[in-house]
Amino acid sequence: NKETYILAIETSCDETAAAIIKDGHEIVSNVVASQIESHKRFGGVVPEIASRHHVEQITHVLEEAFTKANMTAEDIDAFAVTEGPGLVGALLVGVSTAKALAFAHDKPLIGVHHIAGHIYANRLIEEFQFPLLALVVSGGHTELVLMQEHGQFEVIGETRDDAAGEAYDKVARTMGLPYPGGPEIDRLAKQGKDNLDFPRAWLEEGSFDFSFSGLKSAVINTLHNAKQKGIVLEKADIAASFQASVIDVLVEKTYRAAKENKVNHVIIAGGVAANSGLRTALEEKFRDQKVKLSIPPLSLCTDNAAMIGAAGMIAYQKGNRSDWGMNANPALDL
Ligand code: KG4
Ligand code: ZN
Repeated sequence: NKETYILAIETSCDETAAAIIKDGHEIVSNVVASQIESHKRFGGVVPEIASRHHVEQITHVLEEAFTKANMTAEDIDAFAVTEGPGLVGALLVGVSTAKALAFAHDKPLIGVHHIAGHIYANRLIEEFQFPLLALVVSGGHTELVLMQEHGQFEVIGETRDDAAGEAYDKVARTMGLPYPGGPEIDRLAKQGKDNLDFPRAWLEEGSFDFSFSGLKSAVINTLHNAKQKGIVLEKADIAASFQASVIDVLVEKTYRAAKENKVNHVIIAGGVAANSGLRTALEEKFRDQKVKLSIPPLSLCTDNAAMIGAAGMIAYQKGNRSDWGMNANPALDL
């Protein structure tokens, strides 16, 4: 049984990334070039700047992925790439590069959904046990995804307005914290108290959907009112109260969805999965449960190409190939 090597590329947002994955779960090399510093002064990702950086970085990142693995493109069995969702100009850089490589080396081209990638980051740590529930929390997505088998995804809950990461970034911005706001609030929250009583959006009984815009407005109003009345609020307390509200809902809904669907495995995925409060709260909630809980290392929570390679392997094994007409698709469905 020969090993399978997949080279994967990810350029959907503000990281230019390439990785080589062996047999779908072993990282041979994993290179991420972050552009965060270039976007910081604008308070968020600027699409045009992102595309330009990807063009500048992609060959270097690829070269490093090959060098670190001590391999060449000839050793690769298939080329996987994030097809969507994401910023269209950013995605295009990865898609064109993967197409060129696959075409030149006469190997399969595999388009991967970015969220499938985030979920499969966990398979680089532990084998999946089905049924499996994934809590996906990133800058663009907040979803509960149920899986009965590899490569099959059922969204059983999703956000009706802002994504969790988006709420973090917007609240951080109002508080005058730098981009990206998630890590900043996470850090501050550890020094504060949950004493501001922000709302928790449970929605209708039994719903696994989320909503964060009410919470976001509550934080903004609180800041505004305090300013008008000349009251000084501790930033750490705002951060702690906001974070507690987000985590309470995420953890409780994940727990209920896991029970209701009798899953054997719960995983978390996406940039907000790096949140220390969320990680601890989930560990506590599932500690005495029979269901297995996987929490990926921080480096695999935020955007990377290793996760795209892991997800790409499933498509490869199923014989799913993309054709040369594959295009960047900013609104791709899971
Ligand atoms: O998955 P990701 O790297 O990119 C997307 O696909 O969106 O997620 C980025 C998001 C940002 O909103 C960022 O603020 C958030 O993840 N994030 C965090 C933490 N680290 C990153 N949010 C809360 N706590 C963190 N420690
Ligand atoms: Zn992502």
